[in-house]
Amino acid sequence: MATADNRVGDYLITKDTSVLISPYIVHRNPDYWKNPEVFDPERWETEEVKQLDKFAYFPFAAGPRMCIGNNFALLEADIILTKVIQQFDFKYIGESEPVMDPTLTLRVKDGMPMQIQKSR
Ligand code: HEM
Repeated sequence: MATADNRVGDYLITKDTSVLISPYIVHRNPDYWKNPEVFDPERWETEEVKQLDKFAYFPFAAGPRMCIGNNFALLEADIILTKVIQQFDFKYIGESEPVMDPTLTLRVKDGMPMQIQKSR
């Protein structure tokens, strides 16, 4: 909530106005991201991504109240994904394209039925 009148770019934010920042929108802003709608995990290996504005990507928020589990969560996700993908193959068996369900976090509407098999 704005504690005083403030100008941000072209916008005047008056005192007591609530300001919401949407990670969904910023994380898909083509001014920052090449092919923002494409699932491209390798984008994280590019030099381009290392040069990004530090507020272009903020799944853990930013500033003094940023998530303190940030590095732990990323490491945990890397380890779990690596272990699971090494041992199992996943095949989507839904009848139509998955549909996004944007609640507090981004989910898949009605889930994603998968066939899981032990890798050979
Ligand atoms: C993918 C996993 C995670 C995501 C996306 C996430 C995201 C966030 C976000 C957005 C905030 C800021 C909320 C706000 O604006 O007030 C936050 C705060 C916090 N997170 Fe996480 N988090 C994750 C995992 C974790 C883990 C694993 C821990 C602990 C081990 C953790 C502990 C905390 C704590 C204690 C705060 C409050 C920090 C403060 O207010 O000073 N988070 N998290």
